[in-house]
Amino acid sequence: MQTGQIGNKTDRMSKVNPEQKARSQLINRILGKKSHTDDASATVTVRSKPRSSIPEAWTRFDQYPGYEKMLVSRAAADRLGLRNPFFISHDGAVGARTRIEGREYLNFSSYNYLGLNGHAIVNQAAKEAIDHYGSSASASRLVAGERPVQRELEQALAGLYEVEDCIVFVSGHATNISTIGTLFGPKDLVVHDSLIHNSVLEGIKLSGAARRSFPHNDSTALDAMLAEVRSRFERVLIIVEGHYSMDGDIPDLSALIDIKRRHGCFLMVDEAHSLGVLGKTGKGLHEHFNIAGKAVDIWMGTLSKTLAGCGGYIAGERALVEHLKYAAPGFVYSVGIAPPLAAAALAALKLMLKEPERVSRLQENGQLFLEMAKKNGFNTGSSQGFAIIPAIAGSSFKATKLSNKLFEHGINV
Ligand SMILES: Cc1ncc(COP(=O)(O)O)c(C=O)c1O
Repeated sequence: MQTGQIGNKTDRMSKVNPEQKARSQLINRILGKKSHTDDASATVTVRSKPRSSIPEAWTRFDQYPGYEKMLVSRAAADRLGLRNPFFISHDGAVGARTRIEGREYLNFSSYNYLGLNGHAIVNQAAKEAIDHYGSSASASRLVAGERPVQRELEQALAGLYEVEDCIVFVSGHATNISTIGTLFGPKDLVVHDSLIHNSVLEGIKLSGAARRSFPHNDSTALDAMLAEVRSRFERVLIIVEGHYSMDGDIPDLSALIDIKRRHGCFLMVDEAHSLGVLGKTGKGLHEHFNIAGKAVDIWMGTLSKTLAGCGGYIAGERALVEHLKYAAPGFVYSVGIAPPLAAAALAALKLMLKEPERVSRLQENGQLFLEMAKKNGFNTGSSQGFAIIPAIAGSSFKATKLSNKLFEHGINV
């Protein structure tokens, strides 16, 4: 009977766009204009009353504080006439240009750094892998076995850093979570740059290790912090990004190596945005500084940016990789990387090494953009102009307005 009632009301509401109506009811409730129970038309979710000792908010998804906050921000943007810049639908492969709703745009919102996503050779490799292996690995590699292309990719990635081995996970984000969560525990400490990526913070939470952050790119502060606290912990991990994903600057690798050696710590570098971007042939931070890959304990990277795929990797000594292959939940209890994605990433990696002019062109374009942006009065923060250059507007509102205006002019950013 209840279902029938919901159906009838929903049908009537559909004439006035039920989704929008439900959302505006929610927003009104959040803003305190109407209480949810007063609202006679609040028919979208009908439930039996929860036990009175349990606050209703603890039993409802539409009363999660984070969700309410997002709805209020969206309502504010709608009232100001701002276009939602999120979840834009692209009509094809996204590179320096893209098509959105039939119009061509210059595109600055992508990490397809070397234009390899959509490259004919990369596409062909993925198609051949599908024809040979199908679209999925169908199970965990540990228990159900491998496809040669998965190991080939790992060996090629290890070769970039001249380290012993590499393990590939199905997601870059999950790579950080699972690796940090597996290797460190409550007696350990993880010290990270203050601008480190969310996936690292989630991994530290999972590990139960103590967490400290040091001011962005300030190795003197890191050194002083370790001098004070190192002795209180068993294992200590220092973690930085090779090229900061929002700020576009890089850390001083030799200073970090010196610090990790003096204090007896592990050093991990997240190369998500360095691979394909830094160094003469795109091998990343160590190539940029001409430092041996072995000097860093844990190299992490993703397949989703330069390598035109999806997944993440850890490269380093054999014991590290083998341990993760038998112990990291994100590897042991998760499917192996899909063969077409492994094949695409491997083909992209080979192209990157074969055509270093792609890397130098990217670096030249980045430098030119940085120079012009500065000349025109934009605040580009600490960007070094390799590939990531923020134009810091000062608030989310101003940034959205700027993005809206540029969109009108055929620029997606
Ligand atoms: C620094 C950094 N690490 C890890 C990740 C996660 O990688 P993925 O998007 O491939 O899951 C990202 C994603 O943008 C990142 O910027």
